[in-house]
Amino acid sequence: MTGVSPRDLLACAAEAVRRAGAHAVANQSRRTEAIAVAEHDVKLALDQECQAIIESVIHSAYPSHSILGEEGRREGGDANYRWIVDPLDGTVNFSHALPYWCHSVAVQRGGETLAAAVFAPVFGEVYAASLETPAVCNEEPIRVSEIRTLGESVLLTGLERNFDQHPQSVEVARAVSLAAQKMRLMGAAALDLCQLACGRVEGFYESGIHLWDVAAGEFIIRRAGGRCQNLAQLSEVKCRFLATNGHIHDELIALLRPFEIWLSGATTWRRQH
Ligand code: IPD
Ligand code: CA
Repeated sequence: MTGVSPRDLLACAAEAVRRAGAHAVANQSRRTEAIAVAEHDVKLALDQECQAIIESVIHSAYPSHSILGEEGRREGGDANYRWIVDPLDGTVNFSHALPYWCHSVAVQRGGETLAAAVFAPVFGEVYAASLETPAVCNEEPIRVSEIRTLGESVLLTGLERNFDQHPQSVEVARAVSLAAQKMRLMGAAALDLCQLACGRVEGFYESGIHLWDVAAGEFIIRRAGGRCQNLAQLSEVKCRFLATNGHIHDELIALLRPFEIWLSGATTWRRQH
């Protein structure tokens, strides 16, 4: 492989999420300091501060690389490398002092993910993988679970409220919750995906998820032996997304088949293990 080594890129991604996490923890007393408040959402000063920290770590190592983050884009001179950043995932949780939130960074070359790191500061866990190194949690190898049926599975999800753009969301949630052992809605998709990679839950799906929510987690899941699928591309940065431990994947897809619109344009992301 020519270019920057995935191992070096991973070191930078891990440093970026750790630095963002340290800043968020040190500033938890400012957790409600809002820049903008929407009907069901909030943008915090800390969302932007964490993105600035992550950008500075990336650009001090790789000044020409591009960055696509929830809090903005930076075009670099080298179009090949793109870093995908969710500076603070689970913003609403964070603003309520609910400890389920994280920082997420992935780096791609020519559209292929080379390395990714996610840090959940309150849990003290860093999830990471690169093309040269296995999926790990705090340096210990991780693997998706061996559970083989939907009926024994825990599934995580997020629910879009725009039901015109995401038809059948409630019907799908009903079908999934009736078929699974339990369905949970935790509020930080990047962290959800890392729970799947660690073998703690069996599946995740969401309609209308952003690229920065899933870029790191989907790579870590594939490196941990799981399977990820883009069910439909809804915009340049938004898709309908499904991830599983692999074993329950076909059963879950079969359950979704009656909801035809959900499966239009499905493509499988390459499995890596
Ligand atoms: C949100 C969370 C949530 C998911 C939403 C995301 P944010 O990200 O990951 O779990 O359901 O789709 O937008 O706004 O907390 O960074
Ligand atoms: Ca997010």
